[in-house]
Amino acid sequence: MSKSPSGALLQGFSVERDSGIPIYRQLDASMRRLILDGTLPAGQKLPSTRDLASELGVSRITVKSVYEQLVAEGYATAKTGAGTFVSDGLDFEASPRIRRRRLKIKPPTIEISDRARLIMSSKASMRHGETEPFRPGVPALDQFPVKIWNKYLQDAAINNERRNLSYGEVNGSAALRASIARHLTDARGMQVDPDQIIITSGAQQAFVLIAFVLLNEGDTVWYENPGHIAGRDVMKIMGANIAPVPIDDEGMDLNFAVKTHPRPTLIFTTPSHQQPLGTTMSLVRRLTLLGYAHENNSWIIEDDYDSEFRYKGRPLPALSALDSERRVFYVGTFSKSMFAAMRIGYVVVPPALVETFAKARNLLGQNSSAVVELALSRFMDDGRFVEHIRKMRRIYSTRRDILFDCLTKDCTDVLEPQHTDAGMHMLAWLKNGVDDQAAHLALLEAGIESLPLSAYCVEPLGRSGIVLGFSSANEKRIPKLVKRMSYTLTFIASPQ
Ligand SMILES: Cc1ncc(COP(=O)(O)O)c(C=O)c1O
Repeated sequence: MSKSPSGALLQGFSVERDSGIPIYRQLDASMRRLILDGTLPAGQKLPSTRDLASELGVSRITVKSVYEQLVAEGYATAKTGAGTFVSDGLDFEASPRIRRRRLKIKPPTIEISDRARLIMSSKASMRHGETEPFRPGVPALDQFPVKIWNKYLQDAAINNERRNLSYGEVNGSAALRASIARHLTDARGMQVDPDQIIITSGAQQAFVLIAFVLLNEGDTVWYENPGHIAGRDVMKIMGANIAPVPIDDEGMDLNFAVKTHPRPTLIFTTPSHQQPLGTTMSLVRRLTLLGYAHENNSWIIEDDYDSEFRYKGRPLPALSALDSERRVFYVGTFSKSMFAAMRIGYVVVPPALVETFAKARNLLGQNSSAVVELALSRFMDDGRFVEHIRKMRRIYSTRRDILFDCLTKDCTDVLEPQHTDAGMHMLAWLKNGVDDQAAHLALLEAGIESLPLSAYCVEPLGRSGIVLGFSSANEKRIPKLVKRMSYTLTFIASPQ
């Protein structure tokens, strides 16, 4: 801005009468900003109070008192008979923004911690909210009994006790912990003392707590390869050395793991339904894993994220149910069985570590709401939860069959689908050497949201595939979508 003798024009300078901020404050803040960022340079004459008041349509007294305040604080200097000027000698050079602007220096790079750098390198999905069909892990939200749930929520809020207005119980609501303990006995064959349960804001917070409590820099973590991305990245961020363990027909390849990375501090596994391959860990493998953990003082995370959905035969009891030495952290979530926005999960903690976890949860934020916890507890106790699971099982099983049949019929040239007896997704191997990342992107453009198998891997598998969620895919739309999938994948296999 040139130093106009009649005072700066201050174009583009206006006041907002509906903003709720007093005009005096708006004017004062704007003048300071213009002086500080160098738009009004030292020695610049300010417009006369009369001119500025009339240009802005404000009272002259308001402008005068702003100028007086600027003078009082040294931003401006009043010269009798000549007007008000931006003060000389203000150390503008000390202002990094002005110095940068004058010297055209690039802004300094922002220093972040090594931990934050690892956070930034995470490939965990940030796509939340609206999703396209076949995105893995999304429940049939249109089938959720919203009205009934709202009633439970409303009751919990209306009949809320005064004590619920304070911080919740440090391990999460006692009522909900008791409901979960009963459910685990009925559904997973586990005998759990509710005091061993820590309520978390989803399985992910349970992984954070476990990593926080158990891991030191450089500790080895056996991690399924392919495996759950967000859990793995949390371990990495906490300084763990991730040891990828391949999966065979019976689950984690323990011979490989023992030979290559003996005595891990922690072992992460999804034994009920391997994420993402879908394998169920055999009983022999479960017992071998527990035996090894006991002998080597290793801890195990059993991530039982979608075990409610089994379509054939009886589910094997949880790994934790076989664990007499209490080396297993059993992690559950309501993100799949109910809905993810609830942000409630839990971890069953070995008794010796309950107090440590309670303190860790307290320090890291008690991220779930006491009102929602109470509503969920009553929803479970009234049998609504099991009723919902049963209904979803029927729906998901139908959707799985339709998807598998359509893939088998229409995609044989491009995909080899793997049948699954459990869960909410299925794997399909890509044929013709098609890269899964390319397939994923092409499908996304066609409105289909698969996940590439390579995203779950630390070590490449030597085979590419896509993971397709069937739980949220409307059965009537599946045939058409699969045809579109076939067309898209055929095109990227031989683009002409
Ligand atoms: C293997 C696995 N574990 C756990 C979760 C659930 O995470 P949260 O309970 O934090 O939503 C997911 C969600 O995608 C998952 O895929």
